[in-house]
Amino acid sequence: LREKGLAEIEKASDEKKLNDVRVKLVGRKSELTKILRSMRDVAPEDRREVGQKVNQLRDLFNKKLNGTKDQINKALVAEKLQKEKIDVTLPGRKTHLGSEHPINIILDDLETYFISMGYKVVQGPEIETDHYCFEMMNLPKDHPARDMQATFYIDSENLLRPQTSGDQARVLEKHDFSKGPLKMVGPGKVYRRDDDDATHSHQFMQMEGLVIDKNITMSDLKGTLEETARHVFGQDRGTCLRPSYFPFTEPSVEMDVVCFNCEGKGCPICKYTGWIEVLGAGMVHPNVLTNAGVDPDVYGGFAFGIGLDRFAILKYGIDDIRDFYTNDVRFLGQFRKEE
Ligand code: PHE
Repeated sequence: LREKGLAEIEKASDEKKLNDVRVKLVGRKSELTKILRSMRDVAPEDRREVGQKVNQLRDLFNKKLNGTKDQINKALVAEKLQKEKIDVTLPGRKTHLGSEHPINIILDDLETYFISMGYKVVQGPEIETDHYCFEMMNLPKDHPARDMQATFYIDSENLLRPQTSGDQARVLEKHDFSKGPLKMVGPGKVYRRDDDDATHSHQFMQMEGLVIDKNITMSDLKGTLEETARHVFGQDRGTCLRPSYFPFTEPSVEMDVVCFNCEGKGCPICKYTGWIEVLGAGMVHPNVLTNAGVDPDVYGGFAFGIGLDRFAILKYGIDDIRDFYTNDVRFLGQFRKEE
């Protein structure tokens, strides 16, 4: 019984088998228990010896069983450790960083550029009042040019601004000219009732600019705009200023940049003109100055409104302005900086 029992314990290779062996050897129905139960059949003089032997054997089995159980557990732990071993020499995985939106890249770059030339950065409200957006900008209520901006009105006094030009009036009103000239840029979102297509969106970004001092001329404006274009697009990209109309500037111009796609030959993106319009600008209208309490006989200057989305299209060769707003990570990921 002893040899057989020990051999069976030895053979048990996992916890379950070992448990079966335990039941068989020392359980209630085991051989050993049977012998103990039948002690009364043993001759009285032998009882002591038989009892001792049976108990010894049971202790031996138990000891062996527990020992084997420990071994099995140790082996399990060892196996687990082996399987879940961490290879500390493997290179780490890179955490996935997002990328900057192309419009923000241009925006940040232009802010730095203008700040370096002494401009300050301001921000007006997206829900603008008719007063600042139009009235102060020489666009009274019945002015036909109000249609130019395709405004979303909220009520008769409030609107989703279709242009950042209201920022001009807000800054002009507050500026103290005894402390020096006024130079500001005002970036922000604007909204229009436009039908979306490859170069139009009902929501886009503008950067307003305003410079007011004594003796500012049209050539200051021209130099500023051309230098800005060179800064963004490089030295060789063709630009063109052509006459235009805005109620708040006189004279007014618009700047076009050679189409990135056809290089001026004409294609669907530039509607076969070879050019893409990127900004409106001009010399600030005397009425705008007067409305803000600035004497137009002493001070004057220029203003511009850059279409940041158009700048981004041209700089990165993006053929659909709507890509900026659909948030496709495959599109956005292309602007990831080198890590
Ligand atoms: N506000 C004009 C627009 O939205 C652009 C502009 C700004 C023109 C400043 C002249 C001066 O088209």
